[in-house]
Amino acid sequence: MRNPTTTPPSRSFAAAAAAAVQQLRQPVAPAAATPGTPLSEFGREMLAGLSRRPRSISPKFFYDAAGSQLFDRICELPEYYPTRTELRILAECAAEIAGQVGPAAEIVEFGAGSLTKVRLLLDALEAPKRYLPIDISGEHLEAAAERLRADYPALAVQPIAADYTMPLVLPAPLPGAGKRVGFFPGSTIGNFEPDEALAFLQLAARMLRGGGLLIGVDLVKAPDRLHAAYNDAAGVTAAFNLNLLRRANAELDADFDMDGFAHAAFYNAPKRRIEMHLVSRRAQAVTLNGQRFSFEEGETIHTEYSHKFTVDGLRALAVKAGFRPGAVWVDPEGLFSVHWLQA
Ligand code: AVI
Repeated sequence: MRNPTTTPPSRSFAAAAAAAVQQLRQPVAPAAATPGTPLSEFGREMLAGLSRRPRSISPKFFYDAAGSQLFDRICELPEYYPTRTELRILAECAAEIAGQVGPAAEIVEFGAGSLTKVRLLLDALEAPKRYLPIDISGEHLEAAAERLRADYPALAVQPIAADYTMPLVLPAPLPGAGKRVGFFPGSTIGNFEPDEALAFLQLAARMLRGGGLLIGVDLVKAPDRLHAAYNDAAGVTAAFNLNLLRRANAELDADFDMDGFAHAAFYNAPKRRIEMHLVSRRAQAVTLNGQRFSFEEGETIHTEYSHKFTVDGLRALAVKAGFRPGAVWVDPEGLFSVHWLQA
């Protein structure tokens, strides 16, 4: 496997990123607040998150249509090694992975996004029967499912717009289906709190009983490598983080000043995690759904953890959740790992 390249962003890419940041700074006409209309989940969590100390909001709200597009761009950044490293592992170990999964499998992808990684898996598998991608961003998911159907006409593609961290009843297996196999790439497990990661794996173990889970997990490494991956030179990760505020302005009748907050990301070595925050650049007040929140200069809203694991640490967590850990594939630099866990 070749080492990931670390070329600087091309001029056209940097221009596209700058345009994305610029777009985020455009004022958004606030949604008219209709008295008596119940708040969305985003609205409820935003109000609760701004009311507690330290302030925080779940990273699941990053992924509206604009956020999903920005995340796709992050995956192509030269500094963001996880995506291309995982793709290389999946491509180069595809035959071994297919051997574990077996024929006629039903693939359940958790937090499916743009449905790109699964193509590598589908290409390697023997006659996969059905693909059930689950994602909270329904619009993005349907468009991606349509493209996948066109490319895999023999595969039943059944998208499910839902929060995959909540218990969910999956459709009954199709006649003649093989194993039910979960696919959770991208190290999204790292975005959970440790107790949430365990709860998710327990849920997955129950849902996939008799089959297995193929999970991609980012590994502990030198802090400067991690720092660069979450502080890219083109500012796409910053735009992704700030998109939360733009989304609040558009959907929740909020008035965040897009220039009043800055992206901050750093590696917390004792906790083995990247922490992302939005930092108030000055003392200011923000109104959201009629409620006023004051910020001191430097006060933050915590938006994301991205935990990094050791191979043994992940396997121990999987055992605790009820899985039997099987094969593990790691790139030669030891950046990223893909695990087969039997449910
Ligand atoms: C989706 N998740 C695994 C990404 C990560 O690396 O934690 C989200 C992300 N946040 C900033 N850059 C990428």
